[in-house]
Amino acid sequence: MKLKIKYYTLVVAMAAISFSCAAKNDKTTTLRAAFKDKFYIGTALNRAQYMGIDKKSDEVVKTQFSAIVAENCMKSENIQPREGEFFFDDADKFVAYGKKNKMFITGHTLIWHSQAPRWFFVDKEGKDVSREVLIERMKNHIHTVVARYKGQIKGWDVVNEAILDNGEWRKSKFYNIIGEDFIKLAFQFAHEADPKAELYYNDYSMAIPAKREGVIKMVKALQAQGVKIHGIGMQGHIGMDYPELSEFEKSIESYAGLGLKVMITELDLSALPTPKGNRGANIADVAAYQDQINPYKNGLPAEAETVWENRYLDFFRLFLKHKDKISRVTLWGVSDGGSWKNNFPVRGRTDYPLLFDRDYNAKPLVKKIIDEAIKTK
Ligand code: GLA
Repeated sequence: MKLKIKYYTLVVAMAAISFSCAAKNDKTTTLRAAFKDKFYIGTALNRAQYMGIDKKSDEVVKTQFSAIVAENCMKSENIQPREGEFFFDDADKFVAYGKKNKMFITGHTLIWHSQAPRWFFVDKEGKDVSREVLIERMKNHIHTVVARYKGQIKGWDVVNEAILDNGEWRKSKFYNIIGEDFIKLAFQFAHEADPKAELYYNDYSMAIPAKREGVIKMVKALQAQGVKIHGIGMQGHIGMDYPELSEFEKSIESYAGLGLKVMITELDLSALPTPKGNRGANIADVAAYQDQINPYKNGLPAEAETVWENRYLDFFRLFLKHKDKISRVTLWGVSDGGSWKNNFPVRGRTDYPLLFDRDYNAKPLVKKIIDEAIKTK
């Protein structure tokens, strides 16, 4: 009898220990831990987050993510609002946050037609500056910003969105005034400022075949001229009906085939219907608000969440399949409440594109993604 009781106690004790271990594992296994030997798993941070104002986000960001990118504070309109007047306060805080938490820090973005200050392209009379002047401004901007964070920011989105969905050059001010050499020069200036930094080209809708061809052609031309380019950022602003997974995979393979690292940057999966005509992040596409395209104002119904979850999982399975080619997957934000998708491409919708809900609770999807990562050898 005594023996029986002892045996019983032992079994109960063992069960309790294994239960508490499992519970502990559930709690301690984070995205950051699960993807440690796969690729960096990152997020974009907004001001309230890296300034420590948004206390709720801090715990989630620190424990779940191994990489960060600034959502806005390093864009040229913010970091050099007037010629020669650099505003580094926010970017400094952002970099300090990443260093404190031992994260891979990406700088975003040096040369982009959007969120650029008007002065960059015009003279005192408001006329377009000459090619020489614009090159000089680019050089000064890139040298100053990259040099400030030399050795701390390990990778830069040097040029953002230079190729259109049809594969042609975007006719931006940089292109119109300088010609296609603006991209070569941008990469050269960044390399001069920090020879050890990785340099990336970043763009949206990178799974569209014509755009893929255009980007490949552009990268090959850079490589033929000996320009240092290390990676391609495929912005992952995806929807329920675009892009096709198979086209996304072809792009991962093609960009890696150029000898470059592939990064999935700016990942968010909108759970809302896609307004016709929009396939990416072109701010100019903002469509009028329509009630029928804002169907989940009071929460995402379980059925819709399952479809959304499965699509996210398909993408993560694809990323894990190509973990030898992918160096980083970065979400464009932490929680649904802070996502730009609530206002794009239609203002004032309620979207659910991220991994954490409006209270910073991990969605059930997080555990499923972690399981996929753990099971991938
Ligand atoms: C583009 C840019 C990002 C951001 C998003 C919208 O994808 O690269 O920096 O502005 O648009 O938030």
